[in-house]
Parts: sequence; C-alpha cells; structure tokens
Amino acid sequence: MNILVLNGPNLHLLGNREPDIYGDAGLDRIMERVVAHGKKLGVEVDAFQSNEEGVLVTRIGESEGRYDGLIVNPAAYTHTSVALRDAIRACGLPCIEVHLSNTLAREPFRHVSLTAPVCIGQITGLGGHGYVLALDALTERLQKAKEREQ
Ligand code: DQA
Repeated sequence: MNILVLNGPNLHLLGNREPDIYGDAGLDRIMERVVAHGKKLGVEVDAFQSNEEGVLVTRIGESEGRYDGLIVNPAAYTHTSVALRDAIRACGLPCIEVHLSNTLAREPFRHVSLTAPVCIGQITGLGGHGYVLALDALTERLQKAKEREQ
C-alpha cells in the first residue's frame, strides 16, 4: 500500500514558525515519524511539500494509480483553494485532511475549509500526531476495502 502525504505553503518553516501554535518539531521530523509508522503498518509513505498551489494540484493529479490514498495539510490553501478541492475530488482517492493547530479555535477565516468536504475526514489540533492518526485511519479503511474486494 502506498500513501502520499502532501503539505502546503509555509509548512517547511515548522520548528521556527509560531512554535506556540505549531510546536517546535520541524516538518522533516514529523514526516520521518509518519514514514516510520508506515513501515510498522507495512505501508509505504511518500512525503512532499510545496508552497505553490499549482504544484500541489499537479501532484494530486498524478497520484491516481500511483497511490492508494492521500493525507493532505493544504495549510493556507485550505481556506481559499477551489483548485485543490477539485483536484482531490477528481483524483478519486480517499483523502484525510490534517491540521496541526485547532483551526476552529483560531481566526474565523480558518473555520472554513474548502477541501474538507471532499475528504473522508479531518484531524485538527493534535500537532504532528495528527498525521500518524490519519495514517492509521486511512490504512484501516483501505485494508477493509481490499478485503471486501476479495
Ligand atoms: C494549518 C492551519 C492553516 O490555517 C494555516 O494557514 C497553516 C497551517 C495547520 O496545520 O494548523 O499554514 O494548516
């Protein structure tokens, strides 16, 4: 099983960026944890970050047939990007949205996610652990779907 974890703009700054909100772990460390957790589950995890909306849209578009599912933290694009929403829906893969911070406890513009409605679920406010939880949930769901096919 292959899962792609996509991270959007400014998440490469984690560790230095507003640590009171996002914690002091860098993105590499958070993604290493997710990859290591994937190994325990027998799942191959690729992680990719971009600041550019079009690059993220292209990566999602290329994921069909290469991956079984997606975990996405669209960062600021969560609240603005119809293009990312359309890409997630169009690729047809199950997707879980993750946010490190509790977006619902922050500014009102962060309360709206354009992307969450095309995802199977959303995990917010649990820091980097949210990605690990998303991987568990997505893996279980994909395994169940495979069992049903057999
Ligand atoms: C974020 C929340 C977004 O509102 C913000 O723009 C980010 C990070 C999070 O992980 O908490 O860049 O997606």
